[in-house]
Amino acid sequence: MDIPWWRDAVVYEIYVRSFADASGDGVGDLAGVRERLPYLRGLGVDAIWLTPFYRSPMADGGYDVADYRDVDPLFGTLGDFEALVADAHEHDLRVIVDIVPNHSSSEHPWFQAALRGEGRDRYIFRDTVNNWQSTFGGPAWTRTPDGQYYLHLFAPGQPDFNWRNPEVHAEFLDVLRFWLDRGVDGFRIDVAMGLYKAEGLPDVGDQSFKSVSPVWGQPEVHNVYRDWRRVLDAYPGERMAVGEVWTDSPEDLALYLRPDELHQSFNFAWLQAPWSPTAFKKVIDDTVSTVPFATWVLSNHDVVRHRTRYGTADPGTGLARARAALLAMLALPGSAYLYQGEELGLPEVTDLPDEARQDPVFFQSKGKLPGRDGCRVPIPWTVDPPSHGFSPGGAEPWLPQPESFAELSVEKQEGVADSTLEFYRRALACRRELVRSIPYTLEWLKSPEGALFFARGPLICAINCGTRPVRLPKHEEVLLSSAPLRRGLLPPDTAVWLRSASTAPSAEE
Ligand code: NOJ
Repeated sequence: MDIPWWRDAVVYEIYVRSFADASGDGVGDLAGVRERLPYLRGLGVDAIWLTPFYRSPMADGGYDVADYRDVDPLFGTLGDFEALVADAHEHDLRVIVDIVPNHSSSEHPWFQAALRGEGRDRYIFRDTVNNWQSTFGGPAWTRTPDGQYYLHLFAPGQPDFNWRNPEVHAEFLDVLRFWLDRGVDGFRIDVAMGLYKAEGLPDVGDQSFKSVSPVWGQPEVHNVYRDWRRVLDAYPGERMAVGEVWTDSPEDLALYLRPDELHQSFNFAWLQAPWSPTAFKKVIDDTVSTVPFATWVLSNHDVVRHRTRYGTADPGTGLARARAALLAMLALPGSAYLYQGEELGLPEVTDLPDEARQDPVFFQSKGKLPGRDGCRVPIPWTVDPPSHGFSPGGAEPWLPQPESFAELSVEKQEGVADSTLEFYRRALACRRELVRSIPYTLEWLKSPEGALFFARGPLICAINCGTRPVRLPKHEEVLLSSAPLRRGLLPPDTAVWLRSASTAPSAEE
């Protein structure tokens, strides 16, 4: 069987607002991404995922789309997008774009018409409300001037579509084709499990983002992805879709990955697991035994960066663990999603001043929750302030960068052998060499307490989550380690890749 490109791809998430600003207005843009393609190629990733760059009033950083077929002037033009795709392909990088089908912006022409009383059935309007809450805090219903309420599972500026209306289906099939015709290689589907709400909109007890409930995970949603799969399959070049699917169990997740539905889904269980060998092993076992094509992710634009998650008490420990977790992740069967800045070891910025914050989570929770701005602080490319090379011409970036970003900048780490950036480059290069020649299965090896050892044919990965150094499994060669080994032992918070003594590299069956 030919192996599809996405099966083992390393995909790099670009939160466009915060990656690189070419226009000099302090906000990242498509031309900025284009300028940095050589950096991404050099890093060794296979694909980029661009967060929404469509026309938007930015009530939720672009996840509130007012025009699904155009680029917001903040990010450039359609011409910039086309040039970016062409250049990315020249650099042998695939391009995945975000699609936001659960809700539009309240400034979308359909919603504006609905407010005037035209085509309300494209959204969810009711005379009375149920007890549903917005994921960002507060009620999920907002009253319109004529007294009806509309549903928004996120910000009030993000009204939910009514997927029981066939017009909504037709519209999104057309939007998919619009971007496929412009050469995109795939889609990341926002809130993929959310499109259908239970008939009658009953009150709920538990509305957590991940549980199957009247709010999320209704079975009708699978027909949407069957239709989308047919559209993707009709294009040449293995176009794909990855769902942002939150579920309680891997079995529920696997439903979205049936052969006629989505190619991939994010595997948030990995990202939610604590620093523990038992937790890691359980997630890995559950994943590989239930889903046909696994994905792994440690950070994204919605969660606290994993360096900080793994080491709130001690940033050094957090970085060591983050590097070790990367090696474990890259050794697992499946594809890996990286989030911009993790290759620099960026921490979460936890001390942003309230006046700088922009995330609706902060405002809707009335400041009780800090929101997600701390993982969205613009990337430091160079040492120099005011923007560390993020913006040209002395512009201030849209979120302030802490002073510590100078030391973590690309400029500072490039060419420094033990820097996190050079470690990522080595790990990605080594993976690229191996990944297609090792089996797509994993075998657990006997591991000492606190550690996890597994093998994929000739590749052995060992990670030590414990507090004492452990002996390495039998091997012929050390390929790569996340920190120096000590007297041949694997220190705590460290991972290593080894070539096994017994198995010669075997081709994929
Ligand atoms: C998930 C996106 O990743 C997040 O950033 C956004 O706020 C919500 N979906 C709503 O679109």
